[in-house]
Amino acid sequence: MSRIIAFANQKGGVAKTTTTINLGAALAERGKKVLLVDADPQANLTVGIGLDPLELKTTITHILSEDNKPLSEAIHETEIENLQVVPSDIELADIEFSLVNRLTRESILKSAITPELCKQYDYILLDAPPNLGMLTINVLVAANEVVIPVTTHFYALQGLTTLLARLELIQKKINPRLKITGILATRHNPRTNLGKEVIEAIQNFGPPVFKTVINEAIRVAEAPAVGKTIIDYYPKGVSAEQYRQLAEEIDG
Ligand SMILES: Nc1ncnc2c1ncn2[C@@H]1O[C@H](COP(=O)(O)OP(=O)(O)O)[C@@H](O)[C@H]1O
Ligand SMILES: [Mg+2]
Repeated sequence: MSRIIAFANQKGGVAKTTTTINLGAALAERGKKVLLVDADPQANLTVGIGLDPLELKTTITHILSEDNKPLSEAIHETEIENLQVVPSDIELADIEFSLVNRLTRESILKSAITPELCKQYDYILLDAPPNLGMLTINVLVAANEVVIPVTTHFYALQGLTTLLARLELIQKKINPRLKITGILATRHNPRTNLGKEVIEAIQNFGPPVFKTVINEAIRVAEAPAVGKTIIDYYPKGVSAEQYRQLAEEIDG
């Protein structure tokens, strides 16, 4: 059975997509079968893993536009062994709009993740968009776990209380299985006091916090521009090692 993990934070730029891709690659390197799911109309994950959204015939848009379409119909290969992807495209933005009027609106993604699919993958990683709209709700209803990436910058904690309250509501009303696996400190600059203070503040928030901290590093930002994960782009660097550490923390 798959572990289905959402990467969510309504703030943009906190490394949801970067974490999904690079953790996915680090888990695949450990021999785990991993499916990445891009649930953001901006399709950053899709492009970052080396696909062109304009050239794809099937994306998550096709799956969510109807009831009872299995996610398996939109799976694409990547250049990495054990790592496959359900890409996104900009049309997904229109779907989000139309979801509001559908009876099954909160659980369409969940229904698309069939028991057969869960037999095929050790991990299904769901990259959420930077808001708390219908697509994010679909992601949080489909998942069993959530990882919350947070940058160790000044405004990072703003919004975290709102997010935790929203998660609690989803747990109570629709998805009692959902648990917070951890808050992940990202884009960290170990040379600043502010970074250290933010990490301390996160630790006092309540939910578990990963021991692994992901530092700000230019290569992490460069890798998606050439369609690569950091594990492929610079396998011996500190950043690749940090994502491997995170994979170890999650995968045990
Ligand atoms: N550890 C890091 N070091 C440097 N840049 C990073 C790091 N993590 C993410 N970034 C960059 O920060 C920006 C936002 O990251 P992204 O993963 O797209 O965030 P989100 O999906 O939460 O909006 C991107 O340009 C990405 O390349
Ligand atoms: Mg993103």
